Amino acid sequence: MKFLVINGPNINMLGIREPDIYGKQSYKDLIKFIKDCAKKRGIKVKLFQSNSEAAIVTAIQKAYNKFDGIIINPAAYTHTSVAILDALKAVAIPAVEVHISKVPEREAFRQVSYAGMFCFKTITGLGFKGYEEAMDALIEKLK
Ligand code: DQA
Repeated sequence: MKFLVINGPNINMLGIREPDIYGKQSYKDLIKFIKDCAKKRGIKVKLFQSNSEAAIVTAIQKAYNKFDGIIINPAAYTHTSVAILDALKAVAIPAVEVHISKVPEREAFRQVSYAGMFCFKTITGLGFKGYEEAMDALIEKLK
């Protein structure tokens, strides 16, 4: 099984950005965590992070016929991007949405998720562990 893990804008700033919300660990730490989780499960993963909506749409399009599952934290684009939703629908690869913070307890403008309208599962507020749960949910789904 091969999964694509997509992280959106400012996720590369983990450890620096609002540590009270997103924790003290860096994006480099997240990469290591996800790679270790994948290795334990015998899964292949590719990690992609971009601050650009267009680049994320292109990465989803390129995943067509190449990946069995997508784990996506669209970050701020979660709440604005119909383009990312449409790209997920276009490739129709099973996908799980992850948010590091407890989005349901945050501002009203964060309560809409476009990507979440395609994803079969949404995980929020578990920090890095959310990516691990997403991996297990995809493995279960693809069995
Ligand atoms: C986030 C939540 C979003 O609302 C926010 O814009 C982010 C990160 C999370 O992982 O908790 O950048 O997706």
